[in-house]
Amino acid sequence: MKRILSCIQPTGDLHLGNYFGAVKNWVRLQAEYQCFYGVVDNHSMTMPYQAAKLRENTWKMVFQLLACGIEPNNLFVQSLVPEHTELSWILSCVCSFGELSRMTQFKDKTEQLKTGDKEAAISSGLFMYPVLQAADILVYRADYVPVGKDQEQHLELSRNIAARFNTQFAKEYFVHPEPLFTEIPKLLSPADPTKKMSKSLGEKHYINLFGDAERIRKQIRSAVTDTGLETAGSGMSAGVKNLFELLVACGKHDAHAALKMDYDTGSLKYKDLKETVAEALVELTQPFKAKLEALNADKKNVKAQIIESSAEIRKTAQQTMMEVRAITGLLPLRP
Ligand code: TRP
Repeated sequence: MKRILSCIQPTGDLHLGNYFGAVKNWVRLQAEYQCFYGVVDNHSMTMPYQAAKLRENTWKMVFQLLACGIEPNNLFVQSLVPEHTELSWILSCVCSFGELSRMTQFKDKTEQLKTGDKEAAISSGLFMYPVLQAADILVYRADYVPVGKDQEQHLELSRNIAARFNTQFAKEYFVHPEPLFTEIPKLLSPADPTKKMSKSLGEKHYINLFGDAERIRKQIRSAVTDTGLETAGSGMSAGVKNLFELLVACGKHDAHAALKMDYDTGSLKYKDLKETVAEALVELTQPFKAKLEALNADKKNVKAQIIESSAEIRKTAQQTMMEVRAITGLLPLRP
């Protein structure tokens, strides 16, 4: 069976964008591939953070992924598999300083740190971030990596690192990982459809995947449709387009077609559109919310299960490291 690997940083709550852009796809792929899904806490140390918050967010992300339908056996926490950081060191020695300097995400985050309210140092961990990402992938010899387009450059680097390692050590050891780009629907803030749906803008601007039904209904009911600034013939307003986009993302293609017909003939009532969108979202999210509550009621066992699955997944990573040690001239560990 071909192997899939993908990872997510423990950033706090999953929102609709994360779900449609990544997690939904991860869940689906489990039926066809051997999947390794990581919550990458080591990656989250590259930007300023608080220790207690990191631990809390790591568990939060684990629970939310499970609630969405990720199988516990496929899920691990990165720092519980120390071979990631170990391999990262070795890979850093076949990755040039120049290559890392060209990473646009590093440049963007550096800019963020320089211009943020609190001036913060740019860590060398942030610079090394893409090497650790390459290690995440290569340590499992993953064939495919589902990611968004924003990760294209990092994936390219992982392939280059794998190729350089293979050339340098004259082995066809590492698999060249292929990205599986996922289509991410462009969701906008319901409260301000001139902006992207995003957690950083505040509560009103994103739909929580685990929110309660009444809140979701209210958010959609009060979603901005026309701003009054649209001129005749300028086409569908951003707010209305966003509502239609949400319907498609929820898989309600028939309802979408019918309402779009109404829109085209000028007979659409926004109230009907909003009601349909709200019910589609409630139908999608409430089972997740219920599952999350059930998992939270059984916290201790769920945590133990993920510590166990991480240990099990670690065996694959250990096997790779044993071989990598031999190939690169390091001494073998005591058996
Ligand atoms: N850098 C990825 C992101 O920001 C997260 C990530 C870390 C990742 N390691 C990975 C994604 C390995 C795919 C494979 O989204």
